[in-house]
Amino acid sequence: MNRKVLILGGGGFIGSAIARILNARGNYDITIADIFTRDQDDDEFMAFIESTNIKLIKGDFTDASLFDDLDKDYEDFYMLASMIGVNNTLEIPHEIIRVNTALIYNSLEWLKTTSVKNVVFTSTSENYSGTIERFGYDIPTPEDIPLCIDKIDHPRFTYAVTKMLGESGFMNYAKIFGFKCKIIRYSNIIGPKMGFKHVIPHVVQRFLDNEKPFRIFGGDQTRSFCYIDDGAMGTILAMENESATNDIFHIGAEEEITIEDLIKEIGKHFNYSGEYVNAPTYPGSVSRRCPDITKAKTVLGYKPTLKWQEALIPTVKWYVDYFKSHEKTKNNSFEEPGKFFSDKK
Ligand SMILES: NC(=O)c1ccc[n+]([C@@H]2O[C@H](COP(=O)([O-])OP(=O)(O)OC[C@H]3O[C@@H](n4cnc5c(N)ncnc54)[C@H](O)[C@@H]3O)[C@@H](O)[C@H]2O)c1
Repeated sequence: MNRKVLILGGGGFIGSAIARILNARGNYDITIADIFTRDQDDDEFMAFIESTNIKLIKGDFTDASLFDDLDKDYEDFYMLASMIGVNNTLEIPHEIIRVNTALIYNSLEWLKTTSVKNVVFTSTSENYSGTIERFGYDIPTPEDIPLCIDKIDHPRFTYAVTKMLGESGFMNYAKIFGFKCKIIRYSNIIGPKMGFKHVIPHVVQRFLDNEKPFRIFGGDQTRSFCYIDDGAMGTILAMENESATNDIFHIGAEEEITIEDLIKEIGKHFNYSGEYVNAPTYPGSVSRRCPDITKAKTVLGYKPTLKWQEALIPTVKWYVDYFKSHEKTKNNSFEEPGKFFSDKK
């Protein structure tokens, strides 16, 4: 019998990658529920859906009544729906709070009424960046790090606050209402169609605009970058792992690189030989971040296949092609970090 799966937020970057992998395996009944408002909701995705038996339910799941359209007997529930993006946290933090809290609360209350067996809630490495910043915790960072945000009134942290609510909510509802729950904390999953409010599309756009000298915002900050297929596979491995329950996994890549490394590598794709200059980055941006993925490797058998330089190749190509063939929209355009240093609280 096919395994019955619901992916809330399955129209997005990671959710659609999960759907493609499960569909290719062939023994799943997949339902994708999503509001479908992303910029790149495209013909290619719809053609993919039409070539499959995947069921689509379109709607805004901050409205609890939409959960009435869902079945009750999914084996697996991937909860990926969320409002994301640094720009959104800085410009509309109240919407981050409203949307993410409602999606989490509605999902949890719906789960109480279902026979769903396995749940993955997707969280973020931003939940512990405050701990690293304030208390100097280990990098690479394992799952047992205490979660902390640096400044409670800073809009940048509204996203992490909602993800902490989700982690606590899903793990505690799981214990009371008897489903298996895994929390995935992603660190910078990259690939084609990752959205436009990320460092890579911004940088690609600026190289295409022939920015000279090329500014590197926060060049000494560090991150790690993991290819989408690896991130999606890590999520599926966590969902389908029989032994782990109420467990947290850091999914990402373990090589810590500087933003300067990243930008200069992207520059090579454009044969850029001009000058680079350093500039301050977005407020609230942490100086170092890299996950320890040992637990995911040993418990789940997770094994990233692409190095960050390899992951950049299809990613940069997709954005170059996209920007060359589409009129830039306001949504796509790069916003200078300096804009957010003004008087915004
Ligand atoms: N991509 C990363 O590197 C990363 C890092 C940390 C955490 N995450 C988390 O992983 C999950 C997936 O991330 P992603 O990169 O695929 O983001 P994404 O924006 O591509 O996907 C999120 C999906 O949620 C949907 N959604 C938003 N509001 C909705 C609503 N009201 N009703 C129904 N659907 C709604 C969006 O339409 C979108 O398709 C998110 O929860 C995100 O917070 C991702």
